[in-house]
Amino acid sequence: MNVRRIQLKGFRNHEHTEIDCAPGINVLLGKNGEGKTNTLEGFSYLCLTKSFFGSNDSTVLRSGQTAFEVDGLLCSDAGTEYRVRAAFDTHQGEKEFFINTSPIERFSSVIGQFPVVILSPEAGAITGGAPAERRRFMDFVISQSSKRYLEDLLDYRRILRQRNRILLDAKLGRTDPSRELEPWDTELVDRGARILVKRRTFAAEFSPHVVQAYRQLVGELESPSMNYRSSIPTEETQTEQETRKLFEQQLERTRPDERRSGTTMAGPHRDDIEFTVNNLALKHYASQGQHKSVQISLKMAEFRYLEEYCRETPILLLDDVFSELDADRAERLLGMLDGMGQAFITATGDEMLRGQVTWGGKNKKFFVQRGTVVYEEAAGVVR
Ligand SMILES: Nc1ncnc2c1ncn2[C@@H]1O[C@H](COP(=O)(O)OP(=O)(O)OP(=O)(O)O)[C@@H](O)[C@H]1O
Ligand SMILES: [Mg+2]
Repeated sequence: MNVRRIQLKGFRNHEHTEIDCAPGINVLLGKNGEGKTNTLEGFSYLCLTKSFFGSNDSTVLRSGQTAFEVDGLLCSDAGTEYRVRAAFDTHQGEKEFFINTSPIERFSSVIGQFPVVILSPEAGAITGGAPAERRRFMDFVISQSSKRYLEDLLDYRRILRQRNRILLDAKLGRTDPSRELEPWDTELVDRGARILVKRRTFAAEFSPHVVQAYRQLVGELESPSMNYRSSIPTEETQTEQETRKLFEQQLERTRPDERRSGTTMAGPHRDDIEFTVNNLALKHYASQGQHKSVQISLKMAEFRYLEEYCRETPILLLDDVFSELDADRAERLLGMLDGMGQAFITATGDEMLRGQVTWGGKNKKFFVQRGTVVYEEAAGVVR
């Protein structure tokens, strides 16, 4: 997938920005607060219908204005062109999304059609935050490649809420919830086992990509690992049926604790992914640069995974990727990006890029200043 052209109107600090994108590396250079991240957010509207920060449309709307528009021309690997447009108007109050002038009713149906991989400083939460952040990352990646998984996940969350409500009521009323719980247990175990098996398969397929990317970025001196840690004692090789049985047994074991706490103590919603570098848990021992390197490796792995499952080269959005990387790792990263399709990279300075990227043709450099984006050649500073 490739973005040929993007236009932002009334979007964040962009009054009217037009970018003719290069098919390779597009670098957006500018000082703090000039509108680089805002530009990437525009690409996220094209690919995901929304902001990658989870910002709502009225926050994205340029202050003092009543409407915004993100308009783009995208081109698939096979050469099919898509005109994509997201428009928001305060009078209407709702965003509209169009592909080739046809309005899209269910925005979730767009997920996976224009695959995108985003690395922003928020990804820090994946390696340094709570287990829920790692589950969110994993669920997001798998959902882009499997609609069935997304459905199971939404079902599971609904079942879990019901089950927890019963447990909490029972705790407060000191009644025995066993009979009420029974049908919910069956449903929980059914969806939960499917989710667990899928996540284990995902982790097994995904982690070699992470290890490979880390090696490319860092070299042989550091060795990373990624392991799925479940609250149910299952193993990679177990079938859905076996997993179901183990989940039932674990629910039985945790029943007294559940009564005391009023919440479900075992299941995919309690699981985690553990990362290590040289056998030391990343969360407790790693440096900032090692965290960043694992985050980059995860995103490179996501790229490979989506490329395979969506049968389309994803677009890469890398926000402030060079901060915390030393010159060696930055150089290796640029080497990795060469041949990975189209990338948009923000940076406050181009010292990491000097001598590493050939400008013109495949790669372009832009300057971002107070919400305007200017191509270097047009700015008259060709080097
Ligand atoms: N809805 C909005 N309307 C107008 N301006 C906005 C809106 N939202 C954010 N801004 C402005 O956009 C600027 C921030 O832009 P952005 O986050 O893209 O900066 P950046 O170039 O990525 O900077 P940094 O290098 O610090 O990350 C701020 O000056 C902010 O006030
Ligand atoms: Mg920024």
